[in-house]
Amino acid sequence: MNIPAQFAIDAPFHHNSFLINGEITLWDGPTADVFSSIHTPNSDGALAPTHLGSVPDMNAAHALKALEAASNAFDKGKGVWPTMKVADRIACMERFVTLMKQERDKVVKLLMWEIGKNLNDSEKEFDRTVDYIVDTINEYKDIDRDSAKFHNHGGVFAHIRRGPIGVVLCLGPYNYPLNETFALLIPAIIMGNTAIFKPAKHGVLLIAPLLQAFKESFPPGVVNIVFGRGRTIATPIMKTGKIDVLALIGHSSSAMSLQDLHPKKSRLRLVLGLEAKNPAIILPDADLEKTVQECVAGTLSFNGQRCTALKVLYVHESIKEAFLAKFVAAVDALQLGMPWENTLLTPLPEPNKPAYIQELIDDATAKGAQVLNPRGGKRTENFIFPAILYPVSRDMRAYEEEQFGPVIPVMSFTDIDTPLDDMAASSYGQQVSLFGKDVDKLGPLIDTLANLVCRVNLNSSCQRGPDVYPFTGRKDSAVSTLSVRDALRSFSIRTFVATKDTESNKEILRELLDTHKSNFISTDYML
Ligand code: G3H
Repeated sequence: MNIPAQFAIDAPFHHNSFLINGEITLWDGPTADVFSSIHTPNSDGALAPTHLGSVPDMNAAHALKALEAASNAFDKGKGVWPTMKVADRIACMERFVTLMKQERDKVVKLLMWEIGKNLNDSEKEFDRTVDYIVDTINEYKDIDRDSAKFHNHGGVFAHIRRGPIGVVLCLGPYNYPLNETFALLIPAIIMGNTAIFKPAKHGVLLIAPLLQAFKESFPPGVVNIVFGRGRTIATPIMKTGKIDVLALIGHSSSAMSLQDLHPKKSRLRLVLGLEAKNPAIILPDADLEKTVQECVAGTLSFNGQRCTALKVLYVHESIKEAFLAKFVAAVDALQLGMPWENTLLTPLPEPNKPAYIQELIDDATAKGAQVLNPRGGKRTENFIFPAILYPVSRDMRAYEEEQFGPVIPVMSFTDIDTPLDDMAASSYGQQVSLFGKDVDKLGPLIDTLANLVCRVNLNSSCQRGPDVYPFTGRKDSAVSTLSVRDALRSFSIRTFVATKDTESNKEILRELLDTHKSNFISTDYML
């Protein structure tokens, strides 16, 4: 294999430290090996998964130490961080983003090896995260400017701000181990919360180069980073009841079981981005070229491992044949390659994924579907070529389960109520793609679809970005809304100081403002 020198793994990277209470401490306990599903020659010269290195396999005791550090940093609302001036918190975040940018090359290289994301998308993930932080800082300034005033209604003065909630447990997914995790962590901390962050199962080594930046940028205990198995780390933390916000992007089953461990569930705030089964609905007058293009990208960008991926296609009976002929040709023309070759299809990071996708194909074909594309289902050690399954029925696993990988269930319809009823009955409600031109048909359909999902993509595949737009879902697809601005709201609560409009109270307010004795009562703002 021809690996460009700058992307080669010359030696395994054994990361052996963690960040708790502002200290990067060496770990001398058990470690977990990190392998890439990309095969390279091992020491015996045989092709095998590449040994990338190892990370600490930390235990419950250390998980609880991280929790203690985060709780102490919040310090029942008295901590330096939650009471800090907005301008000072922003200065910490600006320092962090400057330091983070210096680690770009290392993080991008590890993204490619750890999760198989292609070079362009790995670079995009890093740059998008940096932009997200910069935009978050600007948005927070804006929110702060809006709060730098007093209201007076009904004889009561009020000074209203958004305040932190407390301690956040932050868990992200393997498909965006940097971007999606940071899109939780960054707004959580900038609003004055403190956090414990455990990197995802795959895409863990790439967090290591950033430990120093966190340590240097934030006061002790504000960000605590521990490594280990989700169950070992998160279970004891949740059981204490000391977590105020569970911030998780992943599967609803994990979110549910973690929530259930909390002894006082009603005071646990949830910020969750969960699974989805976004459909494409292709109407008779859809532009075939563009629809095929969008459906290929929608179903197969990063091999379909996106919560926003198109996971079932509904094609109108009248254009089914024309669409499928073009779609089959476009999918079979796709290249599978190494991440640095920038192909759309790349090795799958989860060792069991090809077998799982095979099970979905076998189940569907046993129940009457066909694999329409000649290359569909062809397997290698770490990949299975996308199979277009048609006709898919509701009793098939490929219809029911979120495949999160390269398999494309297709159904045809004559009555538009068929996809609409399926969507209404589905456990999910994130987004839909609607392809067509006739506004007489599109108008009423959009009105219904907007009530079934949270984003209707017209003649476009589904996606999260641009990050200023709301990213959320109905039913089992999300709790709370994430966008640059909405995330700041999700991780904070409106809290205010009120006082009766009397001369003596006004005098006290004036004095508070003049003396800057309170960071909360302040009409200063950042430009
Ligand atoms: O896994 C779900 C991601 O939020 C999708 O984001 O649409 O930008 O790929 P994306």
